[in-house]
Amino acid sequence: DPVATPDISSCGPPDQLPPSANVLTCCPPPSSASPVDFAPPADASSSPLRTRPAAHSAGADYVAKFNRAIAAMKALPADDPRSFAAQASVHCAYCDGSYSPDGFPGLDLQVHNSWLFMPFHRCYLYFFERILGSLIGDPTFAIPFWNWDAPDGMRMPAMYTDQSSPLFDPRRNGRHVPPKLIDLDYNGREPRFTDNQQVDHNLRVMYRQVYVCAMRASMQRVSTKSTNMISLSPTPSLFFGSPYRAGDDPNQGPGSVENIPHGPVHIWCGDPEQPAGEDMGNFYSAGRDPLFYAHHANIDRMWAVWKGLDSRRHTDLTDPDWLDASFLFYDEDPKLVRIRVRDVLNMDRLRYRYQDAPTPWTSARP
Ligand code: C2O
Repeated sequence: DPVATPDISSCGPPDQLPPSANVLTCCPPPSSASPVDFAPPADASSSPLRTRPAAHSAGADYVAKFNRAIAAMKALPADDPRSFAAQASVHCAYCDGSYSPDGFPGLDLQVHNSWLFMPFHRCYLYFFERILGSLIGDPTFAIPFWNWDAPDGMRMPAMYTDQSSPLFDPRRNGRHVPPKLIDLDYNGREPRFTDNQQVDHNLRVMYRQVYVCAMRASMQRVSTKSTNMISLSPTPSLFFGSPYRAGDDPNQGPGSVENIPHGPVHIWCGDPEQPAGEDMGNFYSAGRDPLFYAHHANIDRMWAVWKGLDSRRHTDLTDPDWLDASFLFYDEDPKLVRIRVRDVLNMDRLRYRYQDAPTPWTSARP
């Protein structure tokens, strides 16, 4: 059976927090009404297409608008589910043991390290973006993506590093501000690359992690903290991650992109002087850094890019236990919505797209 989020009244204290975290609850504000089933935006005319721009190339008008939207979200009280504090807590609630899957009170619900990773974060960004748009009265507003897979985007985007901006977060690694290039398989140690070597390395990492099906009969090594998995036959499940069904223990195994570069980018951003790598370097705090949503927009873009690379073999999963897995979110109204994986497989239907951006790594065969 599919994993389902239970009624939010069963949300409890997070039991998987790092010991240093001073957090009592990550649960969403209560809802007097029961959740409604998700319905996609009615039609193209009432819901214009939102185009998510690459953060490094966004113009001054866009940056000013985005700052206004985040400032408005941060100005809402924490008990408003549209507030930045409540949005940040969504991540903690779904990653640090606040919920149990419906029907399995003894187990933790965890959206990472499994096939729920891609669709859960797509839903999260979808509502986050619509809330921002509604706060500034702009139904075309789209969040930016951090284009770390292309050379021009391999630095922390400047709009996030202006200390007077609501996009800034002081809990980041102070050594990783521009012009420092990101290391897409960062493991906590600083690589000794020249800038050219780092770009080249990053492109090869991207090729290895995303374009796996082009590597005919080659072996793909996907390493996680605890396991080393060798797959001889790249399949969609290598991309999405291992099945995770109702009653399963969490953390069945991440997909290739969740593993790298998703995890390393988090660690690279977080502050190593904080006890648990806050903010970006830990599940419970990652959503507190506005950069989180740009990082995840590029992860979400990789899902679309991956599908476009080989439309025959790079397909969404068809297992009903994936398609019918469901989560609860507050929308921009705000009302509580139950959304299923099958609701978010088509970006056109969700009325957003990504600005075209080059993918030079598709020819960076290692
Ligand atoms: Cu929910 Cu980037 O992690």
